[in-house]
Amino acid sequence: MRVALLANLKKNAPHWLGMSPDHWDDLDSEATIEAIMAALRTNGHDVTFLEGNTELPQKLTKLQPDICFNICEGHIGDSRESHVPALLEMLRLPYTGSQVLTLALTLDKPMTKRILTYHDLPTPAFQVFERVNEPLDPQMRFPIFVKPSREGTGMGVSSESIVQDEGQLRVQLRRLFDKYDQPVLAEQFIDGREITVGVVGNLTTPVAWRLPDDEDAPRLSRGLHFLPPLEVDMSRYPEEEAGVYTSRIKTELAHDFHYLCPAPLTPEQMEDLNWLTAATFRVTGCLDVARVDFRFDANDNNKPYILEINPLPGLNPDYSDLCIEAKAAGWTYEQLVNQILDEAADRYGLSS
Ligand SMILES: Nc1ncnc2c1ncn2[C@@H]1O[C@H](COP(=O)(O)OP(=O)(O)O)[C@@H](O)[C@H]1O
Ligand SMILES: [Mg+2]
Repeated sequence: MRVALLANLKKNAPHWLGMSPDHWDDLDSEATIEAIMAALRTNGHDVTFLEGNTELPQKLTKLQPDICFNICEGHIGDSRESHVPALLEMLRLPYTGSQVLTLALTLDKPMTKRILTYHDLPTPAFQVFERVNEPLDPQMRFPIFVKPSREGTGMGVSSESIVQDEGQLRVQLRRLFDKYDQPVLAEQFIDGREITVGVVGNLTTPVAWRLPDDEDAPRLSRGLHFLPPLEVDMSRYPEEEAGVYTSRIKTELAHDFHYLCPAPLTPEQMEDLNWLTAATFRVTGCLDVARVDFRFDANDNNKPYILEINPLPGLNPDYSDLCIEAKAAGWTYEQLVNQILDEAADRYGLSS
């Protein structure tokens, strides 16, 4: 097929005076783009890379690819990950991965948590702050974890995200408002192991409109390939990181990533995490690929909590969680990338 690889390169992102140095931390490197192009080419595809910017509509109209491999994170705005998919739908071009609504929803962590809560899926109790002095919900208990509502790659996440009292909470709120200019999410701090589960595929069984309340109801996940869970090995990081998967670990220290994959879990724990991953994938409307981040609550029998779902998980062959998980499953990087493309091609009835 003629494939257009669409991405936002960190090196081409716009810059302005006073922007924070981590502003584009979630964008892609040339190494990732080259790896994806090479992987698609090994399956005989004719691949062209296009930057996801304002010139994209003209370029796509000219190129007329059969399908787009979309990993654009977007630049500006509270639904930036959905800009390119919206454009592709206007141009009637097929593309890999989740669609407009899902990408806008999942970029917004509080909105996603509201959906999870509606479906009785476990996510830490939370409060959203729009101003520094908003009263704290009396049901919230310290320690609280404070992070931006609409960022990724650990942006705004450090040991200071864990706050122990009102004073620290207000300092952290002020810091995040000043730096990220968006609502701030305060969550119950979940002290425990951190696991992420990658999934490739699409649900093939007909599903009811709401997840069943019944604990014993069959767990639907046919059509999804669960990759082995990855645990971030916090014991290998300096104490300053406070056992949190910080911005520093995800960027500066990314090449020296300490993890366990497959994570040492009991079959029951694995089954629970896979089911929660499938349920989160389903209720947020994901397609083709995603990664769900969890924490086990060490103070409550290791109860799993969903932190977030990433419908555009990083695809750097050397250090992205999803790629490490695929490797642990015995997949090559080429297989992972082409599987994502094939899932999308199948949905559109294209033969690859
Ligand atoms: N409620 C919480 N309790 C404990 N740690 C948390 C909580 N929320 C986030 N974290 C830590 O911060 C990291 C980043 O948070 P996450 O919501 O996954 O955002 P990102 O989009 O930056 O990955 C997590 O991987 C975890 O280590
Ligand atoms: Mg995360």
